[in-house]
Amino acid sequence: MKRYVALMTLALPLYALPAHASLALATQSKCMICHQVDAKKLGPSFKQIAAKYKGQKTAEAMLTNSMLKGSVGKWGKIPMPAQKLSPADAQALAKWVLSL
Ligand code: HEC
Repeated sequence: MKRYVALMTLALPLYALPAHASLALATQSKCMICHQVDAKKLGPSFKQIAAKYKGQKTAEAMLTNSMLKGSVGKWGKIPMPAQKLSPADAQALAKWVLSL
Protein backbone atom coordinates (compact mmCIF):
# COMPACT_ATOMS: atom_id res chain seq x y z
CA MET A 1 0.00 0.00 0.00
CA LYS A 2 2.77 2.41 0.91
CA ARG A 3 4.44 1.61 -2.33
CA TYR A 4 1.24 2.26 -4.25
CA VAL A 5 0.84 5.69 -2.62
CA ALA A 6 4.42 6.58 -3.47
CA LEU A 7 3.81 5.62 -7.08
CA MET A 8 0.67 7.72 -7.26
CA THR A 9 2.50 10.71 -5.83
CA LEU A 10 5.12 10.34 -8.49
CA ALA A 11 2.57 10.03 -11.27
CA LEU A 12 0.32 12.91 -10.22
CA PRO A 13 2.42 15.87 -11.37
CA LEU A 14 2.40 14.45 -14.88
CA TYR A 15 -1.38 14.76 -14.98
CA ALA A 16 -1.38 18.13 -13.27
CA LEU A 17 0.68 19.83 -15.95
CA PRO A 18 -1.24 19.82 -19.22
CA ALA A 19 -0.23 23.45 -19.81
CA HIS A 20 3.40 22.45 -19.97
CA ALA A 21 2.66 19.78 -22.50
CA SER A 22 1.27 22.47 -24.77
CA LEU A 23 4.06 24.94 -24.11
CA ALA A 24 6.30 22.13 -25.27
CA LEU A 25 4.13 21.69 -28.34
CA ALA A 26 4.21 25.44 -29.01
CA THR A 27 7.99 25.48 -28.68
CA GLN A 28 8.33 22.45 -30.88
CA SER A 29 5.97 24.02 -33.45
CA LYS A 30 8.15 27.16 -33.52
CA CYS A 31 5.36 29.41 -32.24
CA MET A 32 7.72 30.89 -29.67
CA ILE A 33 9.84 32.51 -32.39
CA CYS A 34 7.06 35.11 -32.69
CA HIS A 35 5.01 34.66 -29.52
CA GLN A 36 5.54 34.62 -25.77
CA VAL A 37 3.06 33.58 -23.10
CA ASP A 38 3.23 36.82 -21.12
CA ALA A 39 4.62 39.52 -23.37
CA LYS A 40 4.16 40.81 -26.87
CA LYS A 41 6.89 39.77 -29.28
CA LEU A 42 6.34 39.90 -33.04
CA GLY A 43 2.83 38.63 -32.41
CA PRO A 44 0.50 39.24 -29.45
CA SER A 45 1.16 37.38 -26.20
CA PHE A 46 -0.84 34.20 -25.74
CA LYS A 47 -2.42 35.71 -22.62
CA GLN A 48 -3.57 38.77 -24.58
CA ILE A 49 -5.16 36.46 -27.13
CA ALA A 50 -6.91 34.48 -24.38
CA ALA A 51 -8.24 37.72 -22.84
CA LYS A 52 -9.54 39.06 -26.15
CA TYR A 53 -11.57 35.97 -27.00
CA LYS A 54 -12.59 34.91 -23.48
CA GLY A 55 -16.12 33.52 -23.35
CA GLN A 56 -16.60 33.40 -27.11
CA LYS A 57 -17.95 30.01 -28.11
CA THR A 58 -16.44 30.04 -31.58
CA ALA A 59 -12.98 31.17 -30.41
CA GLU A 60 -11.36 27.74 -30.44
CA ALA A 61 -12.39 27.00 -34.02
CA MET A 62 -11.52 30.51 -35.11
CA LEU A 63 -8.01 30.43 -33.64
CA THR A 64 -7.42 26.95 -35.07
CA ASN A 65 -8.30 28.41 -38.44
CA SER A 66 -6.02 31.43 -37.94
CA MET A 67 -3.07 29.11 -37.33
CA LEU A 68 -3.75 26.83 -40.25
CA LYS A 69 -4.56 29.56 -42.77
CA GLY A 70 -2.68 32.53 -41.36
CA SER A 71 -4.03 35.76 -39.93
CA VAL A 72 -3.59 39.44 -40.62
CA GLY A 73 -5.09 42.71 -39.45
CA LYS A 74 -6.59 41.49 -36.18
CA TRP A 75 -3.70 42.62 -34.00
CA GLY A 76 -1.69 44.93 -36.19
CA LYS A 77 0.05 45.12 -39.49
CA ILE A 78 2.36 42.15 -39.09
CA PRO A 79 0.73 39.04 -40.57
CA MET A 80 1.03 35.51 -39.17
CA PRO A 81 1.83 33.12 -42.00
CA ALA A 82 -0.08 29.82 -42.19
CA GLN A 83 1.55 27.41 -39.74
CA LYS A 84 2.66 23.91 -40.65
CA LEU A 85 0.52 22.02 -38.17
CA SER A 86 -1.84 19.09 -38.19
CA PRO A 87 -5.43 20.23 -37.53
CA ALA A 88 -5.34 18.24 -34.27
CA ASP A 89 -2.22 20.05 -33.06
CA ALA A 90 -3.66 23.42 -34.11
CA GLN A 91 -6.81 22.70 -32.12
CA ALA A 92 -4.82 21.56 -29.08
CA LEU A 93 -2.80 24.78 -29.24
CA ALA A 94 -5.94 26.91 -29.61
CA LYS A 95 -7.43 25.21 -26.56
CA TRP A 96 -4.24 25.78 -24.59
CA VAL A 97 -3.93 29.46 -25.58
CA LEU A 98 -7.55 30.07 -24.54
CA SER A 99 -6.90 28.40 -21.17
CA LEU A 100 -4.17 30.89 -20.23
C1 HEC B 1 6.33 34.43 -38.10
C2 HEC B 1 5.80 34.80 -36.79
C3 HEC B 1 4.72 33.93 -36.18
C4 HEC B 1 4.75 32.57 -35.93
C5 HEC B 1 5.86 31.58 -36.25
C6 HEC B 1 3.49 32.26 -35.26
N1 HEC B 1 2.73 33.38 -35.10
FE1 HEC B 1 0.87 33.50 -34.28
N2 HEC B 1 0.74 35.43 -34.80
C7 HEC B 1 1.76 36.19 -35.36
C8 HEC B 1 1.27 37.53 -35.62
C9 HEC B 1 2.09 38.68 -36.22
C10 HEC B 1 -0.10 37.54 -35.22
C11 HEC B 1 -1.12 38.69 -35.35
C12 HEC B 1 -1.89 38.48 -36.67
C13 HEC B 1 -3.01 39.45 -36.88
O1 HEC B 1 -2.87 40.64 -36.56
O2 HEC B 1 -4.08 39.02 -37.39
C14 HEC B 1 -0.39 36.22 -34.69
C15 HEC B 1 -1.61 35.83 -34.17
C16 HEC B 1 -1.85 34.62 -33.55
C17 HEC B 1 -3.10 34.25 -32.93
C18 HEC B 1 -4.37 35.09 -32.86
C19 HEC B 1 -5.14 34.90 -34.15
C20 HEC B 1 -6.47 35.59 -34.17
O3 HEC B 1 -7.34 35.12 -34.93
O4 HEC B 1 -6.68 36.59 -33.45
C21 HEC B 1 -2.92 32.98 -32.41
C22 HEC B 1 -3.93 32.13 -31.66
C23 HEC B 1 -1.58 32.58 -32.74
N3 HEC B 1 -0.95 33.59 -33.43
C24 HEC B 1 -1.03 31.37 -32.38
C25 HEC B 1 0.17 30.87 -32.91
C26 HEC B 1 0.63 29.54 -32.70
C27 HEC B 1 -0.03 28.50 -31.82
C28 HEC B 1 1.80 29.42 -33.42
C29 HEC B 1 2.65 28.17 -33.60
C30 HEC B 1 2.01 27.07 -34.28
C31 HEC B 1 2.05 30.70 -34.03
N4 HEC B 1 1.04 31.55 -33.70
C32 HEC B 1 3.17 30.99 -34.81
C33 HEC B 1 3.04 35.75 -35.67
C34 HEC B 1 3.45 34.42 -35.65
